[in-house]
Amino acid sequence: MFKDLEMAPPDPILGLTDAFNEDPNPRKINLGVGVYKDASGKTPVMNTVKKAEERILRRENTKNYLPIGGSAEFGAAVQTLLFPGGDEIVRQKRALTAQTPGGTAALRVAADFLKTAGKKNRIWVSEPTWPNHSQIFRAAGLEVSPYPYYDAANKSLDGDSMIQALGRIPEGDVLLLHGCCHNPTGADPDPDQWKEISSVAASRRLILLVDLAYQGLGQGLEEDAAGIRVLCGSPRDILIASSFSKNFGLYRERVGALTVVSDSAETAARAFSHVKATIRANYSNPPSHGGAIVATILNDPELRAEWEGEVREIRDRIRDMRLLFAKTLKARGVRQDFSFISRQNGMFSFSGLNKEQVETLRKKHALYIVGSGRINVAGMTVENMDALCTAIADVL
Ligand code: LMR
Repeated sequence: MFKDLEMAPPDPILGLTDAFNEDPNPRKINLGVGVYKDASGKTPVMNTVKKAEERILRRENTKNYLPIGGSAEFGAAVQTLLFPGGDEIVRQKRALTAQTPGGTAALRVAADFLKTAGKKNRIWVSEPTWPNHSQIFRAAGLEVSPYPYYDAANKSLDGDSMIQALGRIPEGDVLLLHGCCHNPTGADPDPDQWKEISSVAASRRLILLVDLAYQGLGQGLEEDAAGIRVLCGSPRDILIASSFSKNFGLYRERVGALTVVSDSAETAARAFSHVKATIRANYSNPPSHGGAIVATILNDPELRAEWEGEVREIRDRIRDMRLLFAKTLKARGVRQDFSFISRQNGMFSFSGLNKEQVETLRKKHALYIVGSGRINVAGMTVENMDALCTAIADVL
């Protein structure tokens, strides 16, 4: 059968990295995939990660399998990030966490669980959303439907349209939300909008799946989980897919988590047993190393404080780049108002550049950004700023 197959289309984000790697132009710039670069343009291993790895290397005395849901220390550590200050959800054991190979596996396990154990057929995603969301959910057999999210004219969240649309979702469907740093728009709900989302979701009895891939890169580690805490403030079934690719820089280690929250310990445990069955049928049990790094850092007060400082540095550098980007575009004669860039959260700027402009940027200037116009601000440096703003000014 292989010879009858057509080529699969390249991935809109990772396929771009392949094209970038093949481009011989020495002045090429990759602002496609969401990977953090420091001021010198490198994606470094964080200091705390190196320290944790040294400890793990010294202490590790077996390569035996982890349990299906991963290590208990890891699960407890993840819950301190989601529910800081020993929340009653944690005390009452209403949250159970599985260690997963990246946030992507957390989403896929969640989708398989919803389809098989929950008999769910449809999930609603923001328009736009991370392109891989639809691929993951469809692969699990879910139908994917969009809800309005972004006001392209005002470059902000279209809260009214979103809330109205959520109010029309059929009862019991699944709703995907981005916990913070919405990918690709960088536009997040404010505290009042989170309350509205929570109450309309309750009125439609929606099952919530929250993708939390950028905790700490928006307003702060605690602040970026504030929306999740609003949602968990009402009794409901909720799944949280965390990624530690960005906030621990552990991209290639593939470490994430799926947390199940319900209104009683007993219900959560029952749901979690199905999550574990899904994992067993998928990758059996998670790889250890990345999760051990995260647990070592989060469970050691000194390492944790140092790591929080490293995350703060990342956040501050991204913010500086946002300001410099808007300022440099203006200096290059761009007349459009790009001040919205500094209001967006997280790694990405949703530039408003269209497909044609994106194509020209790539072909003429070797500047790689995602087809939706999403630019990875975390890949900008003082050094590449001039070249990339000159290129953008040219296509505008
Ligand atoms: C992105 O959106 O660029 C990241 O989440 C990386 C990926 O896997 O797409």
